[in-house]
Amino acid sequence: METIGILTGGGDCPGLNPVIRAVVRRAERESWRVVGFRYGWKGILENDYRMLDRNSVSGILPKGGTILGTSRTNPYKDKALAAANIEKVKKVFGEHNLKALIAVGGEDTLGVAFKLHKDGIKNIVGVPKTIDNDLSCTDYTFGFDTAINIATEALDRLHTTAESHDRIMVVELMGRHAGWIALEAGIAGGADVILIPEKPMNIEDICAIIKRRTARGRTFSIIAVSEGFQLLGEDVTQTKELDSFGHVRLGGVGERLAKVLEQKTGFETRCTVLGHLQRGGTPTAFDRVLGTRFGVSAVEYVKEGKFGYMVSLRGNDIVPVKLEDAVKELKRVPDWFYDLAKVFFG
Ligand code: F6P
Repeated sequence: METIGILTGGGDCPGLNPVIRAVVRRAERESWRVVGFRYGWKGILENDYRMLDRNSVSGILPKGGTILGTSRTNPYKDKALAAANIEKVKKVFGEHNLKALIAVGGEDTLGVAFKLHKDGIKNIVGVPKTIDNDLSCTDYTFGFDTAINIATEALDRLHTTAESHDRIMVVELMGRHAGWIALEAGIAGGADVILIPEKPMNIEDICAIIKRRTARGRTFSIIAVSEGFQLLGEDVTQTKELDSFGHVRLGGVGERLAKVLEQKTGFETRCTVLGHLQRGGTPTAFDRVLGTRFGVSAVEYVKEGKFGYMVSLRGNDIVPVKLEDAVKELKRVPDWFYDLAKVFFG
């Protein structure tokens, strides 16, 4: 009986369990066994795993998070240990006699998958995951649809309280380097200003939009801001410490912006930080279907020997793209989309 492995890495994301279930169910058709490594790359380095079968994935389709656990372990973090870590992965591959490994993750996890592929662990297939939707070469990643639905509901709810109190409401949303969540939730939730990392805007211009609203008799405003939006040209961070992939922990831009806007406009201002609520709970139907399609296709790529590729969504088709191309650069919000959002500012 042949065996394939699967792991989920990086921040968790609604839709991971549908992928795991789909991989197990499709592999069963080939009579392949599935080993689930726990906590991302940590699991394969430490040979921490659980066997997955039809029973163990039963009922997980609507569950958020990942039954395998996840982490931001980076086998390449410490240059001095990288070679030993690659050997560990090879050894674990050998011990399980793995036909292939399916790595489910965002730019960091898939970046490691690509490096391992280059370093001789050829039989790897990637599955794109992130609520941020910032992975290149795929129109959508699963998790994003769930996140924007949660954020849109929050914006809808904040409208009524903002209007009752004549307040500015700032909503801080996730998105480190790309503002997809703020952009799409902002459009769907009717935000009056959307601030994203790709498009710097100074305080005076934000205040001018609010004043335009006031001139039209609107005495409240809703502002959607990505955590990665730079206020006064700087990232707002919670700590200067970097994670194992070199990212800072962002957070706090909404609160700072709220203070400045209150001073400059005279409107009482409040800030809501949605944080990890955007990542928790049950996936939308869209994300369940996308995760299921990705999982099934990933097993089919293994069957076809299509290694070093990632499954991706192009239009309505699942197509293979090279891992190398997917992790080269992040997918940022294009000008045309932000220009469209700007039609509704103020
Ligand atoms: O990459 C997904 C993401 O949710 C980002 O939007 C966010 O900046 C980060 O993860 C938060 O990471 P953590 O869960 O480690 O706080």
